[in-house]
Amino acid sequence: MPATESQPYVPTHPDTAHRIAALNRNDKPFHVVLAQQFDRPTVDQLCQLADMIRSISGSRQGSQFLQTLLSHRRAMLYFIQPSTRTFLSFTAACQIVGMRYSSVRDRSTSSEVKGESEDDTVRTFSQYFDLIIMRHPLEGFAEHVANMLNEMPRTIPVLNAGSGKDQHPTQALLDIYTLYRCFADPRAAREEPRYTRNVFAGKTIAFVGDLKRGRTVRSLAYLLCRYPGVRLVFVSPPQLRIGEDILEYLSRNGIEYDVAEDLRSSIGEYDAIYMTRMQDEHDVAGESKAIDYYAYSLTYEMAKDFKPGLAILHPLPRRNELDQRLDALPQAKYWAQVRNGMWMRSALMASVFNVDVAIRDHYHAYYTF
Ligand code: NCD
Repeated sequence: MPATESQPYVPTHPDTAHRIAALNRNDKPFHVVLAQQFDRPTVDQLCQLADMIRSISGSRQGSQFLQTLLSHRRAMLYFIQPSTRTFLSFTAACQIVGMRYSSVRDRSTSSEVKGESEDDTVRTFSQYFDLIIMRHPLEGFAEHVANMLNEMPRTIPVLNAGSGKDQHPTQALLDIYTLYRCFADPRAAREEPRYTRNVFAGKTIAFVGDLKRGRTVRSLAYLLCRYPGVRLVFVSPPQLRIGEDILEYLSRNGIEYDVAEDLRSSIGEYDAIYMTRMQDEHDVAGESKAIDYYAYSLTYEMAKDFKPGLAILHPLPRRNELDQRLDALPQAKYWAQVRNGMWMRSALMASVFNVDVAIRDHYHAYYTF
């Protein structure tokens, strides 16, 4: 069970259902650690709630209402791995729902340098704050923290904002939200059941790049299993193939998939392309240098072969795998994806603290005609 930088935490129980039971309360996520915690109605409701928050926050009165909802709560952002968007979107989301926050982004400023254990650091957070949002280099540490907090006299929720090479469930939620908005029929855009129709059925989504070490793709693949009829294609160099555990999970859930090495030949088949960068910070001995990653980049010249309704996503940061000249195309959805993260993370926090009902009531009272 104890972990080191190179040895991840091993889950306390081999059975996923058992692990999820320890993370949920009343059949919904309390700690948010694994994408598998989210069933279809929960995802759909979060997307709808994110839309409501987006609308309500557009007016001064609406934004003031939202800020009253969690003004009695405080969050700790414990981010000891680099982050721009996830960190900033969580801080912006805290501001939207009125939650105050503090952050620790560098272990060298904490009592860990005096020999305190990381577990005790986290236990300390739980005495001052009502929520821990954490990004950590070790797979499994967020789950370990959730289980540890369950044993504390004061149990507070933990949100996993990226755990090693393993999972990034809140990114997967915002990715689903973005894809939903891309695939939904614009004529149905304002209708209430927008997020109950399976807009993913019949769509082909390609994941491109370092699929072995990219946690966002793993979490999104888990979530997409909730949408029967979607087809997934994993395009990567052979050394960076998606994990067998994900492929097995897809098979078990009846999701069609392909594994490919060539991006260009089938580019016109895809309804969405999810690009990723090389995750070379996980290299053990510079092994990424030997890989021709250019073959896994989207260039401006390829745009002539895109499907007209294609959605290009990228969790960012990007390097050269996504040509900046593509940004101006209608198919480029990655900057909208960045903004969607703020609304989805606001919705998630509202749901964890059970103020989602108040938001729905407010929306129905003031924003439906
Ligand atoms: C990703 C991450 O940290 O896993 N970024 C993000 O959260 N948007 C992807 C990456 O770093 O490549």
